[in-house]
Amino acid sequence: MAYRPRRCFLPLMFRFLVLVCCFLLPSWATANTPRPPGVAVATAHPKATRAAIDILRRGGNAFDAAIAASAVLAVVEPYGHGLGGGGFYLLRVEPKDCPKDTKAKCESRDIMIDARERAPMAITAKHYLDANGRPKPRASLDGALAAGIPGTPAALVHLAERYGRLPLSVTLAPAIRLAREGFVVHPPYRQMAEWRAEALRRDPESRRIFLDDGFVPNDGHVVKQPELAETLERLAARGHDGFYGGETARRLVDGVRAHGGLWTKEDLSAYRVVERAPVQGRYRNLRITSAALPSSGGIVLVEALGILEYVDLARMNRSERAHAVIEAMRIAYRDRARFLGDPDFVAIDTKRLLSPIYHARLRALIRPHTRARLVGQDRETGAEGTNTTHLSIIDTEGNRVAATLSLNTSFGSAFTVPGTGVLLNNQMDDFVLLPGAANTYGLVGSRANKLAPGKRPLSSMTPTFLETDDRVVILGTPGGSRIISMVLLATLEVADGRGDAEAWVRKPRFHHQYLPDRVEYEPDALDRAGREHLKKLGHLQRELRPYGNMQIVVWDKRLGRLQAASDPRGGGEGKVVLGEPVKPAAADR
Ligand code: DON
Repeated sequence: MAYRPRRCFLPLMFRFLVLVCCFLLPSWATANTPRPPGVAVATAHPKATRAAIDILRRGGNAFDAAIAASAVLAVVEPYGHGLGGGGFYLLRVEPKDCPKDTKAKCESRDIMIDARERAPMAITAKHYLDANGRPKPRASLDGALAAGIPGTPAALVHLAERYGRLPLSVTLAPAIRLAREGFVVHPPYRQMAEWRAEALRRDPESRRIFLDDGFVPNDGHVVKQPELAETLERLAARGHDGFYGGETARRLVDGVRAHGGLWTKEDLSAYRVVERAPVQGRYRNLRITSAALPSSGGIVLVEALGILEYVDLARMNRSERAHAVIEAMRIAYRDRARFLGDPDFVAIDTKRLLSPIYHARLRALIRPHTRARLVGQDRETGAEGTNTTHLSIIDTEGNRVAATLSLNTSFGSAFTVPGTGVLLNNQMDDFVLLPGAANTYGLVGSRANKLAPGKRPLSSMTPTFLETDDRVVILGTPGGSRIISMVLLATLEVADGRGDAEAWVRKPRFHHQYLPDRVEYEPDALDRAGREHLKKLGHLQRELRPYGNMQIVVWDKRLGRLQAASDPRGGGEGKVVLGEPVKPAAADR
């Protein structure tokens, strides 16, 4: 008998073991991957939070819930966001909800849906300048010319078709009902309408819908939007074409053109959301996933955190710490102004901006006893923004959404397209319209963010996930240019491991955006000693009214706990439902 060497047997055994592992390990791993003990939602309005929870109870996932919440917010927060605006959805998609057409092996994935507005093809910077080449006052802020092509309706359709489990007829139903039956005016609505009353009054459609006989409505007044209900119905029935084609598109184009805008049918039909890889970074023990360009949010956040990485904040007193964080903000926001814009139009060395070696060089600019020398000319700033909206959601599979959505300033352009109920954004103001000119948030920029047809304006929206092995934090906020510094401050708190979501949303805030060259702070954010210290170092200062409206969801994997917190500065609601969501009782709706 031929001698069969034993060594042949071992590789065979080995191959067998590898095969067994390949088949068994993934299912073992899935079975042992922790799952949230329920669902959690935090949004800027209780009705949006309830709509999201209701959709989760009906078998929807986090993406369906995000559609429902976004649509309800579009109805009840017309000052913050709407079908006439855009924004960014940051998603964590768990294997069960991978898109059906995914060919590659499906694993957990982070995706950013870029639903930012695009400049109409016929528009150039000249449209916003007078005969002397100076910006025409408010041309990029009020009226039809101020509006980019909206992205939010396309995002809702994309989410439903690619990631959701329920049809839009179900997920948009709560918003359609609210638009038709009306919602009761609440204090944030009144405050925003006060700020924008003049422009709302000038547009007959906005005046009819959002004011009461030309005046800011009293609490208790009911705002009904039957045209918006019909527009939402067309979106639910016909998807992308229900907004960007057919009757809605015709009315949008006719209405905009009749009021001085330059939209075309092609601008609308060509609009698509873009799936982009989010920005990834690390700070101490945190993994950061955040908004990619054309939002500057993720890059500026990771840069500021990279600068602070080896700065021992824990050993500093409160004043020293404030100085270090302010300097990191100044330096990171300076790069926003110098380098960032729409990546489909300009080449941006993102890799360098996110690299620890570069951050170390920037860190070397920070001095304890003086301000970093950053050259730049100060500019006038305009209005403060505290609108826009954010929602944070997690479902029982671990799917997550952080979405920041906007019309830009309060009530956007204040122009509602007749026959559609769609209030348009004024996001064109986020472009650099003239070199050196600041936008309404006082932000300056470079050629990278210069207006061009079809381009997306640079944003500061910063929907973000923070993760350790034990914890997941989903967060974001409105606040114009201050969004990034708010998310930065919250991230530093999370990294410190102190407090909880309720404390993080409440904590007083301070801000520096390079130009205008001053520290802005909420009452109580800096004590007297801190203000004196900053003054000695040469920091100009300005106290602000409270700003921001942060929404945070936390999943503590170790303790198996969920938390949802809504900023007390806004009128929102955070809600956790433990266990597998079930169908609601009628009384619960
Ligand atoms: O995209 C941006 O950065 C701004 N248009 C966001 C506006 C905003 O957050 C207004 N709220 N305060």
